[in-house]
Amino acid sequence: MTKTSGKSSSLLYQTGFGNEFATEAVTGALPQGQNSPQKAPFGLYTEQISGTPFTAARATNRRSWLYRLRPTVAHRPFKQISNGNWRSTPFDEVPTPPNQMRWKPIPVPSKPTDFVEGITTMAGNGDALIHSGVAIHIYTANKSMTDRFFFNADGEMLIVPQLGKLLLHTEFGKIEAAPGEIAVIQRGVKFRVELLEKEARGYVCENYGALLRLPDLGPIGANGLANPRDFLTPVASFEERDGDFRLICKFQGNLWEAEIDHSPLAVVAWHGNYAPYKYDLANFMCINTVTFDHPDPSIYTVLTSPSEIPGTANFDFVIFPPRWMVAEHTFRPPWFHRNFMNEFMGLIRGQYDAKAEGFVPGGSSLHNCMAGHGPDSETFEKATAAELKPVYLADTLAFMFETRFVCRPTKFALESSELDEQYFECWQNLPKHFGQSK
Ligand SMILES: [Fe+2]
Repeated sequence: MTKTSGKSSSLLYQTGFGNEFATEAVTGALPQGQNSPQKAPFGLYTEQISGTPFTAARATNRRSWLYRLRPTVAHRPFKQISNGNWRSTPFDEVPTPPNQMRWKPIPVPSKPTDFVEGITTMAGNGDALIHSGVAIHIYTANKSMTDRFFFNADGEMLIVPQLGKLLLHTEFGKIEAAPGEIAVIQRGVKFRVELLEKEARGYVCENYGALLRLPDLGPIGANGLANPRDFLTPVASFEERDGDFRLICKFQGNLWEAEIDHSPLAVVAWHGNYAPYKYDLANFMCINTVTFDHPDPSIYTVLTSPSEIPGTANFDFVIFPPRWMVAEHTFRPPWFHRNFMNEFMGLIRGQYDAKAEGFVPGGSSLHNCMAGHGPDSETFEKATAAELKPVYLADTLAFMFETRFVCRPTKFALESSELDEQYFECWQNLPKHFGQSK
């Protein structure tokens, strides 16, 4: 087992993507040679969690064996609680306008709010009930979860911190996630979120579809984009804690709560390939032109959730990190375009190269199917006149949740005071140049 320290933490991790990991917090707790011995070591309970159908192909089959203080089933019945601002399919609260949309950052509330309470759904698509599509949320929090635990039976959660470092206490161990890093917690995995700073904000893509995986590289070859060795999965770590706790569950679009008299983060040892992970986006190796023009933004894909249609992702996670721009005789910012795919964007830090202003860290934009978009007029004028020497874009980290279905904004998103009603203005000063000398 390879262990490494995360850049920003003293926690121990195992490296690799979808490996057959093996880890024990107490020496001898992990059975050797079989999964479910008649009696597990130290009186632990054996439990398997399957993240894919039993019969999924070997390359995509994900399951782990957990050795726990008590099994998952040991809780009182779930009762429905308020969904707060969390929304789920069918995302039909309000008609979806074909407009380009942009939002300012949602402020962190002043009243005590933990990660689950602070989820606000901006948009979504597909159908959680048939394991297709996504929900896109912003989280804002100022309080750690201590006696509340959560799992999501509707999908896996890709967490993209933008403000404040998180410590994710999961069944499988602890993960630190700071702005510039991402964490993925799969369907069913229990966790609680501790804030390591006073306030936290970020983005979540709740993926109802196939589990996120690394994209195939085709002619790029064996190396590049996100390399498997840079994905970090926690080593086993458990809580031996009894008390009056609550287990929150998201199931079929609603939130449910059960009383539980112990921490469910009670896995002393585990092995398998279904486990949460983190990734530092600074490790992403960009591919781009060294001659002219633009490849499509799919070259920036970190992780993909494929659909049943080849080449048509349920959801791609795409980033625009610091990088050199060297294209010759080329309009370098993202060009004007309209797409089949639907693009929800966020900004983690710095500035995005297609917009001179208005798209700020913590903000969001949404360009749905066939909505024209591209650089604002100021960026267009600057880029057409720029001297094309190599330029390093240093202060930037934007990302895109790109989905095959139209992202349908929630009522909250469309009525929020954070909605930028003047967004269209940034393209109103694009004069007709035709007729000018070449
Ligand atoms: Fe776009």
